Amino acid sequence: CQLNDYAKKVGLKYFGAATDSPGQRERAGYEAAYSKYDTILNDPKEFGQTTPTNGMKWLFTEPEPGVFNYTEGEIVATIARNTNKLLRCHALVWHNQLAPWVEANTTVWTPDTLRAAITRHIANVAGHWKGRCYAWDVVNEALDEDGTYRKSLFYKILGEEYIKLAFTVASHVDPDAKLYYNDYGIERPASAKTAGAKRIIKMLKDAGIRIDGVGMQAHLHADSHPTVDEHVQTMKQFSEELGVSEVAFTELDVRIPTPVNDTSLQWQKEAYRNVAAACVQVEACVGITIWDFYDPFSWVPATFPGQGAALLWNEDFSKHPAYDGIIDVF
Ligand code: XIL
Repeated sequence: CQLNDYAKKVGLKYFGAATDSPGQRERAGYEAAYSKYDTILNDPKEFGQTTPTNGMKWLFTEPEPGVFNYTEGEIVATIARNTNKLLRCHALVWHNQLAPWVEANTTVWTPDTLRAAITRHIANVAGHWKGRCYAWDVVNEALDEDGTYRKSLFYKILGEEYIKLAFTVASHVDPDAKLYYNDYGIERPASAKTAGAKRIIKMLKDAGIRIDGVGMQAHLHADSHPTVDEHVQTMKQFSEELGVSEVAFTELDVRIPTPVNDTSLQWQKEAYRNVAAACVQVEACVGITIWDFYDPFSWVPATFPGQGAALLWNEDFSKHPAYDGIIDVF
């Protein structure tokens, strides 16, 4: 009984795990673990989809203006090809992990020069992987916690027009990739941020610009996570109400204050199970991606000190109770 096999039996397109290109994996000193890690990652019964956690971001793909580098992204794209996985490509326009030259104070952006830079970036990067991406996260994290637009460089210079531009260019460059808006904190139906995501869908649809999906990152907390019903309602708002053809959980992990105990692991199990149960119930939900699967390679401990154990495989490659929690609802 393995995750992707079960997910497909109940009608999902995939259960996947993101992975980093080896040179970028979060923790050094794990060379000996890589062969076990790779065996699990590569197993199509376990994971039918992958996403590069870093290699396709602007920092790596266009480190200098007009100079493109696909080495890191290709590593994960190649893993996907060799192990028969769908590839979610991530992410074209995001305020983080931008190349320094984009953010440098020395660059004086005007609306025209920034439009040209965004267009060139998407044309090249999405052009490079054209036909290989099941989906692209076209715009990532454009919203602040209160649901208004994040005051990123892109927003400051272009306003919401940058979102329209990004989706328009992506739709021309890779007509077959599903185009997603992706964000965290949009898993609950009544949150201000969820309302913001709905505004983005509506803005694009009203302008006649293609958006196919909404990605709910789902970086969740074990001790206060959405219920099945909250997940279901949110997904229905995006799909049935606003008309995107698909939704997906794109970066699922469930962090726990460390050290973990039996209680917190049970809460985590429930959080994972709720996501899986909800995805099964909603027609538009195509799949679930966990943000890596092996705790030592998770971004959580480095980013949120005092929290960890967010994934499904422990350091010694035993599994969290949450693994069976997911299998149970499939
Ligand atoms: C994270 C990566 O996992 C880390 O390795 C990196 O240092 C920072 O970015 N939302 C996203 C992802 O869309 O790209 C982020 O990935 C996690 C939050």
